[in-house]
Amino acid sequence: MKILFAASEAYPYIKTGGLGDVIYSMPAALAALGEDVRLILPGYREVMQSMTDAQVVASFEVPGAGVSHRVKILRAVQNPDADYLHLVDIPALFDREGNPYVNQLGHSWPDNAERYAVFSRAVAMFGTLASEVSWRPDVIHCHDWQTGLIPAFLNQMKSQIKTVFTIHNLSYDGYFSHHEFSQLQLPDHWWSPEYIEFYGGFSMIKAGMVFASHVTTVSPTYAREICTPEFGHRYDGVLRHLGNRLSGILNGIDLEVWNPVTDQHIAARYSVNRNRITATRSNKLDLLKQTSLVTDDAPLLGFIGRLVAQKGIDLVMGMLPDLFARSAACVVVLGAGEKIYEQNLLALQQRFPDRLHVHIGYSESLAHKIEAGCDMFLMPSRFEPCGLNQMYSLRYGTPPLVRRTGGLADTVIGVSETTLQNKTANGFMFQQPGIEILLRTTLTALEYYARPRIWQQICRTAMLSDLGWDSSAREYQKLYMTDVEAMP
Ligand code: ADP
Ligand code: GLC
Repeated sequence: MKILFAASEAYPYIKTGGLGDVIYSMPAALAALGEDVRLILPGYREVMQSMTDAQVVASFEVPGAGVSHRVKILRAVQNPDADYLHLVDIPALFDREGNPYVNQLGHSWPDNAERYAVFSRAVAMFGTLASEVSWRPDVIHCHDWQTGLIPAFLNQMKSQIKTVFTIHNLSYDGYFSHHEFSQLQLPDHWWSPEYIEFYGGFSMIKAGMVFASHVTTVSPTYAREICTPEFGHRYDGVLRHLGNRLSGILNGIDLEVWNPVTDQHIAARYSVNRNRITATRSNKLDLLKQTSLVTDDAPLLGFIGRLVAQKGIDLVMGMLPDLFARSAACVVVLGAGEKIYEQNLLALQQRFPDRLHVHIGYSESLAHKIEAGCDMFLMPSRFEPCGLNQMYSLRYGTPPLVRRTGGLADTVIGVSETTLQNKTANGFMFQQPGIEILLRTTLTALEYYARPRIWQQICRTAMLSDLGWDSSAREYQKLYMTDVEAMP
């Protein structure tokens, strides 16, 4: 089948989080199964600059907010490594410095409604008009709110192209005002609760839910959770209404990019059976060299992630003074995000300079070193649609300590008497989010760390976890082939 992936980011071109990783690894997995997959992204400045040999394969006018945009679709036809990639070039909307979604002050770009509505309309037009007649997609697989209007525009165009809409994170929904709705020249009848109107505004993620042939999210547990008020961000009713049009398919990871056997970012390479213990020690020493932490005998705990409430970074900060008082553990944090968390972390580092190392910023290389060099990985997310970092840490034999939610619940098997006995335990888990329970679980994990035989068993089990894309890619294949149920 011909499948067009539409998304707002993709590694290695542009990435702000796990979505970027998945938009690299999922198409690759489907291509490995023989599908004909292409990817379409907005032509951000950074990406356009790296695609010097791109050629225009289509060009048309797309209505925007009160204006019309001349859109060019580019493709690096000559470059076999990048010829699956198409870029939607609209300089007025995407040729700007910095992050795809926010300006230098960290505020959403004021024209985000127009940017992603025009991108979505352009993708729908490209798919349908397919001026490149030889490649017409059978399915457009859309990801997150930035692409939510694609199924809606295809429906308006009465296109036969099937759509799958994947929710990677319901807490980012692309919610805009009535004024923006009117400016964007969207069909009047969409302004209704059955369509995309939502609590007095309109929602692009809801457009994906309402109009796509199938809706998926990135783990079975999150698919169940978002149908409840606690995790549904007010969409639980809409999602429950989808019935079996909604399913949860667990993300895999790219087993080449995250591979301790070949990883060039880390000091010593290893596999589950070769050099594991000695290499882990070298990787820990190498990581410590880049920090202010002095001791290498103490257990080292890592955290990587966007510094937002979702990730429970406030819970980590809340437990650190007690953790440092009651254990010898040291902690390394790599992250960027809300200023308040960044400042509080730096203040804590000043208070405990030899116990806590904080790196504010984004570093792919340091992320690999942390996964390989730490003894344990902290991921106490309040909610987690799938989560990749816990899988990377499993892959590197660094047991994750997580809250039982979303994809964390589907990938980590917490230590208990039974799971130790049947050798399935690959990490540590707690139920309700809270500082006290996080502290207790961490102290318990440190007790296991002090028992080398059991600890090594957990590390080995972690490395043997099944984390690839194979079975999930096959589930997507099945969805692409399933008949479409009636839509509005
Ligand atoms: P989310 O998509 O919610 O941010 P995931 O766990 O799915 O969470 O994916 C996070 C991805 O982003 C991982 O690839 C992780 O390594 C990466 N990441 C997040 N913050 C940083 C950072 N500051 N430096 C390097 N990589 C980061
Ligand atoms: C989102 C989610 C994360 C998930 C990622 C990739 O950013 O927050 O849990 O792993 O998308 O699907």
